[in-house]
This record gives sequence, C-alpha cells and structure tokens, in this order.
Amino acid sequence: MHGDTIHVLRQCSPALGDPPMKLVPLDKPDLIDLASQWLGREENYKWLDFGDGVHPLSLVSLRIMAQRDLHVLRMFTAHDCDLPIGIVALSDIRRQWKTAGSLWAVLGRKRYGGLTARAVSQLLTFGFVELGLEAVSAWTVECNVASRRVLEQLGFRYVGRQRRRHWIDGRPHDRLLYDLLATEHHEIPDFYVHRAAGVSLATPHLAPRTVARRPRDGRGPPLDAA
Ligand SMILES: CC(C)(COP(=O)(O)OP(=O)(O)OC[C@H]1O[C@@H](n2cnc3c(N)ncnc32)[C@H](O)[C@@H]1OP(=O)(O)O)[C@@H](O)C(=O)NCCC(=O)NCCS
Repeated sequence: MHGDTIHVLRQCSPALGDPPMKLVPLDKPDLIDLASQWLGREENYKWLDFGDGVHPLSLVSLRIMAQRDLHVLRMFTAHDCDLPIGIVALSDIRRQWKTAGSLWAVLGRKRYGGLTARAVSQLLTFGFVELGLEAVSAWTVECNVASRRVLEQLGFRYVGRQRRRHWIDGRPHDRLLYDLLATEHHEIPDFYVHRAAGVSLATPHLAPRTVARRPRDGRGPPLDAA
C-alpha cells in the first residue's frame, strides 16, 4: 500500500477539543508497510544503522523488530488528526540494566516538520515511566543538524564523539553520542495544541517549530560549537 493512501480514520480537519498527537504501536501490517517505505528512502536510512552499516531496513527485519521486546516502535500522528507522519523508536532495550542503547526517529512526511521532538518526548516518558528505564542513549551523525536539534530540544547531554564511524556515499563522518537520564527528562507539553482556540495546528508548515524550548544550560551540545 502506498504511504499516502494508507487508511486513516479520518482526514486532518482539526477542531477544538480534538486529541493531540498520538503514538500508535506498529502492530498492523499496513503501518509496518508504511514505516518500511519511509525507512527505505535514502534520505532517511543514510542517517541510521541497525547494526550492520547504512542500508535500507528490509520489511522482514522491521516486522521482526516490531515483535521483539528489544525495541519499542511507535508511529506518531499529526496533531488533531490520525494521519501517521513518522516513526519514533527505542532500541537495544535492556530491562535488567534499565537502559535503552539507542533512540531514533524518522519523519516520514517531511511537510509535517517540527513535531518529532514532541513525539520522541512522549516515547521517552513511556520508556522512563512504563518500562522503568533510567538512561537512554542516542547518537547522530555530526552533519545531521535536524537530528541534533531534536536531541537538544529533548535535553540530551552530549557525551562524546566516535570519529569516522559512519559512512555515507563512501565518505566517513563522525557520530556524536548523547544520553538522557530519567531524572533529566521533562515531557514536552502539547501546550500549543490547547493554547490557541481556532488555530489550525495540523496544517503542514504552519505548526510552530519548537513546542518547548529549554534554555541552554552550558552542557554544550556541540551544535553550539559547530
Ligand atoms: C531528524 C528528523 C526526524 C527531525 O524531524 P523534525 O524535527 O520534525 O524536523 P525539522 O525539519 O523540524 O528539524 C528539526 C530542527 O532542526 C532544524 N533544522 C533542520 N535542518 C536544518 C539545517 N539544515 N540547518 C539548521 N537547522 C536545521 C529545524 O529548523 C528544526 O529546528 P527548530 O525546532 O529549532 O526550528 C527528520 O529530519 C528526519 O526524518 N530526518 C531523516 C532521518 C534522521 O535523520 N533521523 C534521525 C537519526 S536518529
């Protein structure tokens, strides 16, 4: 099924009182197919690595991931609308150590930019509260500015660099390493959803870019220094 034709419960026509963004488990074949299409695009998979380098994740691999306790995969919707627009995930979850070894996200529908941090924030709340995790690690490629901004908005702490660790088109890039403790996590509120009555926030491109900026506190994610 093509991504743009996937069944949605209703079209995006926001009304006051509609529920905010939702995270939806990846438990239906059409959702897994859609996520697989997004993960099959070079613009997305070139920033990811599921253990054996940069390449598209196969549909079969994604189906297996969706069934394993090692991962929590969620689609997220646009605000006030059931349209899936991206995927967020915790991977390498070790319940006995209360850790998740990696956090990743893909905005499948690029016109809905700006909502990923809020979706990841909800996922982190699930990880810290429901799964009892105490630390979540993340990495991103140095030149992936959008991803670094998302981590920064979530309060992730920059903890180091792996040099020449990520290969795109035959060229090496550094990976930047981050982590976040349960005690440092503050869920990004849906404040702008409840804020302005009558303002369409589901409209692509018109959503505020950052829902809750955190003052920079000197921990210095390297975006500042780039
Ligand atoms: C990373 C990703 C999920 C972010 O989604 P998003 O937050 O909805 O996307 P945005 O386009 O709003 O980018 C996030 C921030 O980066 C900023 N940004 C994006 N590209 C930028 C650039 N080239 N230079 C400067 N800032 C940039 C945006 O302005 C935004 O910042 P703001 O919130 O302060 O306005 C999305 O870009 C994506 O799917 N990328 C491909 C897959 C990927 O890289 N995943 C992350 C690896 S784990």
